[in-house]
Amino acid sequence: MVDSIKLLRSGPLRGEVIPPPDKSISHRALIFASIAMGKSIIRNLLRADDPLSTLNAMRSLGIEIRDSGETVEVYGEGLYGLREPEDVIDCGNSGTTMRLLAGLLSGQPFFSVLTGDSSLRQRPMKRIIEPLRMMGAGLYARAGDTLAPIAVRGGGLKGIHYKSPVASAQVKSAVLLAALYAEGETVVEEPRKSRDHTERMLPAIGADLRVEGLRITVSGGNDLAPFEITVPGDFSSAAFFMVAAAIVRDSEIIIKNVGINPTRRGLFDIMKRMGADIEITDERDVSGETVGNIVCRYTEKLAATEITPEEVPSMIDEFPVFCVLACRAEGTTIIRGAGELRVKESDRIAAIASELSKMGVDVTEYPDGLEIRGPVNLRGTTLEAHNDHRVAMALSVAALVAEGSTTLQGVSAVDISFPGFYDRIMELTG
Ligand code: S3P
Repeated sequence: MVDSIKLLRSGPLRGEVIPPPDKSISHRALIFASIAMGKSIIRNLLRADDPLSTLNAMRSLGIEIRDSGETVEVYGEGLYGLREPEDVIDCGNSGTTMRLLAGLLSGQPFFSVLTGDSSLRQRPMKRIIEPLRMMGAGLYARAGDTLAPIAVRGGGLKGIHYKSPVASAQVKSAVLLAALYAEGETVVEEPRKSRDHTERMLPAIGADLRVEGLRITVSGGNDLAPFEITVPGDFSSAAFFMVAAAIVRDSEIIIKNVGINPTRRGLFDIMKRMGADIEITDERDVSGETVGNIVCRYTEKLAATEITPEEVPSMIDEFPVFCVLACRAEGTTIIRGAGELRVKESDRIAAIASELSKMGVDVTEYPDGLEIRGPVNLRGTTLEAHNDHRVAMALSVAALVAEGSTTLQGVSAVDISFPGFYDRIMELTG
């Protein structure tokens, strides 16, 4: 199979684009609807490989899900209506599917096994296994209970007070899902605020959950009500267009219907700080999330910046494309306190450092970050996506301003979150 694409330096990006639906909210809508009692309706669900892994997993747990194209209907069976799966559950490349389901399955009085592709089977799972075991679930995994496959024998949970060492919405959500099944109160605290979609959605459908700063308290047992939700556009996918428009001369685009939840929009605030010509218009509320349009224009002079550890969670998935932006900024851009990037779909620090240096960038790698000295005139060459959708799309944006042509190998990775990415870019570049 040929899995590469040849990309040429492009003319300006112009016009309107609508990003694909939010991946994080799509996963959660499918899972929460499955344990609500009755029929939920999801509009604008992301049909990409990752959320489809969650959809198939919920079907294998006995939930009927109908996709009419326009909407997805989920026939929830209530908190205790899931059925023991007949086979292992394949989470594909999706960390969110595996970690959130580990939490959910910890509450179920049956046996299940979660596995995934070669990338997911290398990603750290102790971070969820530990707290879920503390709650009383039986979880067993490879490599001393640290790597998937994970076998789960759930049930008999009790509430815990858990201080998570990492700011991770996946860890937080795994414990919160298990907490719905636990006796007594569960408290989860995180060191910094990670994306908060779970805390927004669960109380809206009847869970007894309250948030005080970095602390979330849940009492289990409440039935969840079915719901209707319209999933907003994914800020993390919009990010590729934001950066592309900022660096390709004479660009001016409107990215419509983008989720701009404060725990997700760090890249927007940082781009402003760097001097980018970017603004949010038409802010509104859609299904409990703030949505807006993002207008972004080419900016001749961008200033390098330093990302503080506090800012890292709010732009965690945007670092690959942010590094491309940093190549065009004047001065040294410093990213530290971002060691989590090493345990994403690829080691994103190593992947970005190695691919951008092939394009002529002066980049230094640290255990927890990168330094990039700009501005650089990028050179087209042969690049590798490292089996990582966000690395693939970030390098494709770099190719739009690179001299000559760029060949990107492993391009099919984009289907994890953004099927149709190259069509959208072509529409904008005419
Ligand atoms: C996600 C949380 C983040 C993010 C991932 C999606 C989620 O991971 O990187 O793409 O939907 O909860 P961590 O929570 O591990 O940082």
